[in-house]
Amino acid sequence: MAYNLLKGKTGIIFGALDEKSIAWRTALRCHEEGARLVLTNAPVAMRMGEINKLAETTQAPVIPADVTNMDDLKKLFEESMKHFGGKIDFVLHSVAMGMNVRKGKHYTELDYGFSQKTLDISSLSLHRVLRTAWDLDALNEHASVVALTYIAAQRVFPDYSEMADAKALLESVARSFGYHYGIRRKVRVNTVSQSPVKTTAGSGVKGFDGFISYAEKMSPLGNATADQCAAYCVSLFSDLTQMVTMQNLFHDGGFSFTGVTEAVIQQMEK
Ligand SMILES: NC(=O)c1ccc[n+]([C@@H]2O[C@H](COP(=O)([O-])OP(=O)(O)OC[C@H]3O[C@@H](n4cnc5c(N)ncnc54)[C@H](O)[C@@H]3O)[C@@H](O)[C@H]2O)c1
Repeated sequence: MAYNLLKGKTGIIFGALDEKSIAWRTALRCHEEGARLVLTNAPVAMRMGEINKLAETTQAPVIPADVTNMDDLKKLFEESMKHFGGKIDFVLHSVAMGMNVRKGKHYTELDYGFSQKTLDISSLSLHRVLRTAWDLDALNEHASVVALTYIAAQRVFPDYSEMADAKALLESVARSFGYHYGIRRKVRVNTVSQSPVKTTAGSGVKGFDGFISYAEKMSPLGNATADQCAAYCVSLFSDLTQMVTMQNLFHDGGFSFTGVTEAVIQQMEK
């Protein structure tokens, strides 16, 4: 069911790779709620052309941008404003890449060149996006920026490896830039800490299948799906949450505050 929560709003969605992507699900939901969108992803991620299907459904142009490239980001925001005929109301940052994880490097043996790339793509990119919007004064008053994160920023999940550090930095950038943008334009910046979901990025984590069922058993409401995450993001883009900023918001069925569950105890007693 749609509620027209984003009627008249304009937004940029980063990171829709295929139909499993959280960004893909969020773009669909934002469109249903009445928003006008621009879609973006890294030029290499568009080679398969999958994103064109989403562009058609949501009637959104696709403007490629590598989040580590300031010229790309400037062009993205300028072209988006031209397309919308005005400033932007919301941005979804749904971007991550763990270079060491990808290359099979254990956390105790990080390649620091890879680490820098990981942090640039997964964390500093949020600063780059906000900085670009700031320099161009591209966001409307009360605009909302959401970046996706994971609870490994607070607690150890060994196989999440370097991405735990990347998410901790991402959450810190959201708080720090959120402070400045709040004062300047009443813009809110938050991170949503989502349950595990089987996507391309998610499946890169070692032992993901076992992990996802463990998280399911450890969450009173079960794991939150990508569509449920999309709905939560819509609420954060809407006018109903104008005073929420600089927060890390858990969207995980209760996982983050659960010590143990009956289901896990039963499993251990087997
Ligand atoms: N899947 C999960 O279990 C899970 C859980 C919590 C948080 N998250 C976070 O959600 C976000 C989206 O991930 P997803 O699970 O939908 O996977 P996904 O693989 O579908 O999305 C990741 C996106 O990042 C993009 N990207 C990578 N490098 C880029 C670059 N240099 N420039 C621009 N874009 C680039 C990819 O092309 C891709 O579209 C990520 O931040 C991820 O860490 C995922």
